[in-house]
Amino acid sequence: MKIIDMRSDTITLPTDEMRQAMYEAELGDDVHREDPTINRLEELAAHMMGKEAALFTPSGTMSNLIAVLTHTRPGDEIIVGSEAHMFWYEVGGASALGGVVMRTVPNDQEGQMDPGAVEQAIRLENIHYPQTTLLCLENTHNRCGGAVLTPEYTSAITQLAHQYGLQVHLDGARIFNAAVALDVPASELARPVDSVCFCISKGLSAPVGSLICGTREFIEKARKWRKMVGGGMRQAGVIAAAGIVALQKMVSRLAEDHTTAQRLAYGLAHIPDISICPEKVQTNIVIFDSPPAISGTEFIQRMDAQGVRFINRGERRVRAVTHRMVSAADIDEALERIDRLVRELG
Ligand SMILES: Cc1ncc(COP(=O)(O)O)c(C=O)c1O
Repeated sequence: MKIIDMRSDTITLPTDEMRQAMYEAELGDDVHREDPTINRLEELAAHMMGKEAALFTPSGTMSNLIAVLTHTRPGDEIIVGSEAHMFWYEVGGASALGGVVMRTVPNDQEGQMDPGAVEQAIRLENIHYPQTTLLCLENTHNRCGGAVLTPEYTSAITQLAHQYGLQVHLDGARIFNAAVALDVPASELARPVDSVCFCISKGLSAPVGSLICGTREFIEKARKWRKMVGGGMRQAGVIAAAGIVALQKMVSRLAEDHTTAQRLAYGLAHIPDISICPEKVQTNIVIFDSPPAISGTEFIQRMDAQGVRFINRGERRVRAVTHRMVSAADIDEALERIDRLVRELG
């Protein structure tokens, strides 16, 4: 039985071209900035984000942490969405290691925070208050079903934050999915913000890595924080080489993942007892509710036994992510297996 794994786009394996590039990569010690392959990847990343400089890190989690460490001081308050990956899934690193308070503002289903609510959350000078210094955005928005933030929204909310002297960091782990969905360059989505990070290890299929981009001055400081948290990786050009292939060859094909996500979403809408709004699916993440007859956990376990893998998002909520290793035929096969289980449940 073929396993159809839709738990995440992080499961994608490197392409043959990536493996070849890794084999041939020119290497050096990156802590001394002597790895030519990393230097090339950082230049390419900065160029694609329209920023002055970039820094290669091992993961999106470390990029977000370094961004917080660079933008803030211990005791500051930062504003994050109530559904932000930084708030839910990064082990509270911003608070534990950065010493900042994370203040949440509700995310709506589109991954947006209401500008009025953000404005209310920004603290004005008062001896009793921590200082609010950073606003964090996420595009695409993981827990909000891969929703896309438009350049207009990003500009407006960033302008508001800047008016109050805050910096703005964009967690753009899947920013290229947003760029492809909106048919705009990623630099357009990153233009308003002070720093942006993105992952090469998700839909772009590289095995490891993330890049933070910003001004030259910001990246110089970030480089020192990366060293402190143990992210100086020496001959890591061996993985950066795959990242260069990811950025040059794998971006436009993300559209295929969005098409398979639509195929899955509209297919699920035809299965009785599955609850989904297929028109809400914008990129490669599909969120749906499993049948009421069983819990979400049981649904996932029973589908796993049928070779279809999802992850649980609480109660009956299920998340599926499409990627390069799931074809349209796989989606049809997965839909058949889901339909069979739902019929068995009666
Ligand atoms: C929006 C978002 N930010 C950050 C991350 C963290 O990336 P990593 O798994 O590389 O630490 C993820 C991972 O899924 C994510 O979805």
